[in-house]
Amino acid sequence: MFSVTSLPLVLVSALSVSALTYGTKPIDYGYDVEKVKEQAVALATHSWEYGTAAEALLEFENPEISVFGSSPFPIPSIPPADVSALAYAKQHIYLNSSVLIPADGAVGDSASLGAFAVLIGRTDPAYMDASAREINYLLNTAPRWPNGAISHREDVAELWADFVYMAPPFMAYYAVATNNATLLKESVRQAKLYREVLVKPDGLWTHIIGPQSADSGSWSTGNGWAAAGMARVLATVMKAPISKGWTSEIAELKQEIKEILDAVMTVGLTENGLLRNYLTDATWFGEVSGTTILTAVAYRMHVLDSKTFGSKYRKWADAGRATIATCVDANGILGPAINPLWWGDRNPVYTGSPEGNSFAVLLAAAYRDCVQSGKCS
Ligand SMILES: *[C@@H]1O[C@H](CO)[C@@H](O)[C@H](O)[C@H]1NC(C)=O
Ligand SMILES: *[C@@H]1O[C@H](CO)[C@@H](O)[C@H](O)[C@H]1NC(C)=O
Repeated sequence: MFSVTSLPLVLVSALSVSALTYGTKPIDYGYDVEKVKEQAVALATHSWEYGTAAEALLEFENPEISVFGSSPFPIPSIPPADVSALAYAKQHIYLNSSVLIPADGAVGDSASLGAFAVLIGRTDPAYMDASAREINYLLNTAPRWPNGAISHREDVAELWADFVYMAPPFMAYYAVATNNATLLKESVRQAKLYREVLVKPDGLWTHIIGPQSADSGSWSTGNGWAAAGMARVLATVMKAPISKGWTSEIAELKQEIKEILDAVMTVGLTENGLLRNYLTDATWFGEVSGTTILTAVAYRMHVLDSKTFGSKYRKWADAGRATIATCVDANGILGPAINPLWWGDRNPVYTGSPEGNSFAVLLAAAYRDCVQSGKCS
């Protein structure tokens, strides 16, 4: 770490973007983010886990490129070798397929690598072509729910809250890259269509509605996927030149995210300070993955709109982060986590949830950006 004050003025202004990351004093995250990040990358083995780990790397290491950065558009042309999220995502993207990565019949999951294909596509057009095929697959191949929501499954129409993190943020990013306002509106509309089907009277979302894997519970991580996905779409719409003046889309997304956070903040925590795996079911253990992604969203929203998401949200996030810090072991692994491949598993996982570990990196990035914005301490 170096002191910015000792550098000549010219150099300081040239460094202004990266200086944000250094700040004046080191940020105390409460846990060793480097270790947590290494584990997140090492643990990932499935399509959506790669996409989520890539997003975690980008938001943490290159905040200026992420949609949560102050000016992410126009999308920059940076060689993938210079951005670890891009170098990482590139290894997992297929150029010979109609989707970016095989995903066991899950429509959304292959799209989780989409924003990275667009970024790599700035210097290597084959990746932009691959992202265009993924968009075509989402819009024209996948089944639809009767209301128009794109199915999360390829073989039947089925809506999973998870989809909202995987596909709409990519649709929005691709829309900005191709200057397509219609598609940008469609990314906002997809979140709304998902909410229409999945929301319950208490404001929480059902995990899955459909004929194959229906899960009527309010899954903590599922609500986190939905809220965090909408926060990425919101940041994109707020910052893209083509959506300048889109007040109704912005208000709608904020309200949808607030509905989830407000409901989550009233369900209560277990004695270990975590949200339950199924948020309103007292028989479930306190679980770290869902708690972590929802905590990250609270920080992101406090930064994006601290009027609507005031100090109540920041304080909730600070308390959550303090608890989450106690859930990180000496090797940088978070627990007790839900089994990411089977959400009904009553045995808490302590050996590492790939998505749970990525969420803790997203949380660190969100907290740091909040401190840098002067809205958190
Ligand atoms: C398609 O690309 C992937 C990843 O680059 C590779 O593993 C696979 O063998 C390729 N498949 C064909 C049929 O070329
Ligand atoms: C914009 O996206 C829509 C899908 O939402 C597509 O139908 C249309 O062809 C795209 N427009 C352009 C100019 O590519």
